[in-house]
Amino acid sequence: MRSASEDEIAAASAYEDLHVPALFQQWAARVVDTARVRTGDRVLDVACGTGVLAREAASRVGRLGSVAGVDPNPGMLAVAKRVAPGIEWREGAAEALPYEDNSFDAVVSQFGLMFFTDRVAALREMVRVLDRGGRIAVAVWESLERSQAYPIEVELLEQMAGAQAADALRAPFVLGDPAELVGLFESAGVGAVNVTTHRGTARFPSVRAMVEADLRGWLPVMGVVLPEEQIQNILEEADRALSHYVTTAGTVEFEAPAHIVSGAKP
Ligand SMILES: C[S@@+](CC[C@H](N)C(=O)[O-])C[C@H]1O[C@@H](n2cnc3c(N)ncnc32)[C@H](O)[C@@H]1O
Repeated sequence: MRSASEDEIAAASAYEDLHVPALFQQWAARVVDTARVRTGDRVLDVACGTGVLAREAASRVGRLGSVAGVDPNPGMLAVAKRVAPGIEWREGAAEALPYEDNSFDAVVSQFGLMFFTDRVAALREMVRVLDRGGRIAVAVWESLERSQAYPIEVELLEQMAGAQAADALRAPFVLGDPAELVGLFESAGVGAVNVTTHRGTARFPSVRAMVEADLRGWLPVMGVVLPEEQIQNILEEADRALSHYVTTAGTVEFEAPAHIVSGAKP
C-alpha cells in the first residue's frame, strides 16, 4: 500500500469527522441489512472510504466471520485503519478487485459506484469475488433535485467558481434513475436485481461546516482546488442561499434520499 501524504490524511480525517456523521453513517445498517449479512459471513466493502460500512458489517459477522475493505485512496485507508485496526484494509480499484474468485458471502458498497471509471467492469468484479448465491447491496444517491439543499449549492458554485467546481458537486448524484440502475446491474451479470428507495436526512452542524467541507474536503478529491479568497466569498454567500435549511438550533437539515440496489450471484 502506498503511504498517504499529509494532505490526503487531512482530507480523509475531515471526511470521517464531518461527512460520515452528516451523510453516510445512517446508510450503513440499511445496506448491511439489505445484503442480509449475518454471523460468520465473509464480507467485502468496495470503495470503503474511511470504513463506516465495513465497521457496521464487522459488528454483524462476529468472530466467526471476516470483513475486508478496499479503496484506491491511501488517505481514506490510513484513517480506516486508525479507526478500526481489526479489519483488513487493502488498496485497490473496484474494476480490478485484489481478491480471489468466490471469496465472499456478501459484497457491499455505498456511494462509490458513481465514481468508478468502468461501472460494469466493477460490478462484474463484485460478482466474480462472490461465492455462488452470495449477495450484493449497493447504495447510490437519488438524483440531485431530490437532495434539497445540494441543487442550491451547485448553482452557487456554478455562479461563483465555474462549471468544473459545480460538476464536482453534481458527480455524486448521477445514478438517480432506478431503471438505469437495473440495466447496469443486469448487464454486469447480477441476478435478482431490485432497487428500493429510502428517505434519508443530511445533518450538518452549520451552513459553514457543510459548504466548507465540500470546498476544502470534497472538491480537492475531485481535482478542484479553489483559492482562499474565493472560498471565503462562497462561504459568505452560502449563509444567505441556504438559510431555508437552517434549524432554530443553527444546524442544517434537509432530505437526502438514496437507492439501495440488491442482487445475488446467479
Ligand atoms: C463518497 S466516498 C464513500 C466512501 C464510503 N463508502 C462511505 O460510505 O463513507 C467514495 C469513495 O469511492 C472511492 N473510489 C473512487 N473511485 C474508486 C474506484 N475506481 N474503485 C474503488 N473505490 C473508488 C473513493 O476513494 C472514496 O473513498
